[in-house]
Amino acid sequence: VNVLVTGASGFIGRAVVARCLDDGMTVTAVTRDSSRVTPADRLRVVELAADDPAGWPEALAGHDAVIHCVGIGGTGDGRASTAVSDATATLVSAMTEAGVPKLVALSNVGAGSSANQGAWVYRHVLRPVLLATFLRWLAPIIADKSRMEELIIAAAPDYTIIRLPNVVDRPPVERLRLSSGRAAVGLSITRADLASFVVAATRGITGLSRTAVSLSN
Ligand SMILES: NC(=O)c1ccc[n+]([C@@H]2O[C@H](COP(=O)([O-])OP(=O)(O)OC[C@H]3O[C@@H](n4cnc5c(N)ncnc54)[C@H](OP(=O)(O)O)[C@@H]3O)[C@@H](O)[C@H]2O)c1
Repeated sequence: VNVLVTGASGFIGRAVVARCLDDGMTVTAVTRDSSRVTPADRLRVVELAADDPAGWPEALAGHDAVIHCVGIGGTGDGRASTAVSDATATLVSAMTEAGVPKLVALSNVGAGSSANQGAWVYRHVLRPVLLATFLRWLAPIIADKSRMEELIIAAAPDYTIIRLPNVVDRPPVERLRLSSGRAAVGLSITRADLASFVVAATRGITGLSRTAVSLSN
């Protein structure tokens, strides 16, 4: 499998690149700063910005799948942003042009239809209060991810959207919870478990085609 990873220098992107290489894949890591990606066998690093649509079709040529890890790191600056959805619009259109069939994209629990996940008290009381107070920074990030999901669902040939709670740098737990519909989501997922699941989704092993799902331990 020949896979391209966006946001490859990030907290999750780095682990995804390493896990793909361990799995025997050939990887193209896309980053705005190649010095932030550790060289390895079967790894090609391409410096490319999301706002450079001209560069994408060439970077994507010959790939079987894209793993989309671009995001606003940490808590962001609390302001509305379209950075991720704009990057996704460029990516999805270039994937169509280059004939890349599969997109695995990282989103957030609370984006898209997952706004309806969890018990009534969580959806109608706890979540709105948290998003207006302690987790205020998260609201613009989720809004941008909801736009990203809409774009993917409308235009990507095949996709798996993986919605994440807090991603933690701890040893793998290997007990995964996949939630859709109203089903509740755990509070966290280990980065190692996430990276393994992303690889499985990229290989089509999870059976999650044209699907958005929340993943937690
Ligand atoms: N970490 C978590 O707890 C968590 C929880 C829920 C969801 N997520 C989602 O998972 C994804 C990855 O998160 P992460 O923790 O790995 O974030 P991160 O460490 O900040 O990495 C995100 C990467 O996105 C790229 N990026 C950032 N702004 C960009 C822009 N304006 N244009 C193009 N590329 C840009 C950067 O890559 P380059 O500098 O290499 O270009 C950066 O390394 C994000 O979508 C995030 O929202 C993370």
